Amino acid sequence: MTERGQFEAGLRRTAPPGPLPSESEPALLDKIRAEIALSGPMTFARFMAIALYDPEHGYYRSATERPSRAGDFLTAPETHPIFGAAVARQLDEVWRRLDRPGRFVLREYGAGSGTLAATILAGLRSDGSGLVDAISYEPVEINAHRQAQIDARLGPLAQAAAGVGSPSSSGPRPARFVGAALANEFLDALPVHRVEQRDGRLWERLVEWDDASGQLREQPSQPSTPALAARLARDGVTLVEGQVAEICLEVEPWLAEVAADLERGLVVIIDYGHRAPALYDPVRTGGTLRAYAGHRAHANPFIAIGRQDLTAHVDLTALEAAARAHRLDLLGDVSQAEFLVGCGLEELVDRVRSSPATTMEEWLAIRSAVARLLDPAALGGFRVVLLGRGLEPRMRLRGLSAYPPGV
Ligand SMILES: C[S@@+](CC[C@H](N)C(=O)[O-])C[C@H]1O[C@@H](n2cnc3c(N)ncnc32)[C@H](O)[C@@H]1O
Repeated sequence: MTERGQFEAGLRRTAPPGPLPSESEPALLDKIRAEIALSGPMTFARFMAIALYDPEHGYYRSATERPSRAGDFLTAPETHPIFGAAVARQLDEVWRRLDRPGRFVLREYGAGSGTLAATILAGLRSDGSGLVDAISYEPVEINAHRQAQIDARLGPLAQAAAGVGSPSSSGPRPARFVGAALANEFLDALPVHRVEQRDGRLWERLVEWDDASGQLREQPSQPSTPALAARLARDGVTLVEGQVAEICLEVEPWLAEVAADLERGLVVIIDYGHRAPALYDPVRTGGTLRAYAGHRAHANPFIAIGRQDLTAHVDLTALEAAARAHRLDLLGDVSQAEFLVGCGLEELVDRVRSSPATTMEEWLAIRSAVARLLDPAALGGFRVVLLGRGLEPRMRLRGLSAYPPGV
């Protein structure tokens, strides 16, 4: 199976990849071409927003299940329920630190079909946590088919807040809350601008239609906004000649919204990402933009438009700057492997091993899932960033047990 973000270490496949679609959604391609014909070349961020979020044909609007074994990639919550059970322990600790509020909102951005929430609840139940009775689930999911699945699965617990933080956001803003905001593999899909350093200056790679080849292509142009150069300058980054990079300007407004709504509690961001010096290191000379389809990863965003996922690694420096700007405490960040171990993953595995009810099949499934969840070259290498408000920052949370002291 393909975990997203794995491509740098090479794809480690445990199942044969499916066929790579090459045909784009015709209506989507027509829409992009028409917009370019009318308004000129578009930013890559605009292209990505149409490809992923177009209300009718965008990749994230489709009925097809994407993060699954039969889909395009496999996320940690979909790998095994033990992932949710470990996250549940972190949430339980935060609920206790907050003096066990009677209502604890779990707002999940990019909730998919609700697997993470369902497995968190199952974990809380099997731990006997009182948080089960306090939790109120607010999924933020742009895909109407996934929302319907969440409703069917989590019933009255799910208080639909569809579209919050999304490019197509139109619904009412939910109230401020005490609890946790969770985003697993959400930020990597926010639209990015693509830039290139050439002839000693920064260009933005705009998307245009090439009549000769009958395809979309990128063309270095005047940057669409000074915010791109400003971001790199603030991150302390100078790209080397010929280097291509992605810049996501949507992380800031997203976190601003989370911070505005979070009265007290925790923000958990799990994604593949790096701090700016590593993200923009010349070793990644072509950037980190990748397309995913049928458990394959590749670098061509202009095929299979609307039928493949597009992602880029998250800039953790920009995330931290946004957190500071919006008065969220930087509690720390660790690898996903460290986070899961800190949350008691090994104890959860032991519980399954020692239960007489566990079948050999279940035991083998959990063992292979845990290996993938902890593998530093796969899901274990994702970063888990914890931000907080109203939690004593010096009292380290269990998920951050491996976070260096004094940082
Ligand atoms: C990679 S999947 C991850 C799903 C789930 N968090 C998991 O880990 O299995 C990303 C999910 O985020 C949703 N999504 C993407 N962008 C979104 C946005 N701007 N607002 C709300 N949901 C979004 C997609 O529809 C999809 O269900």
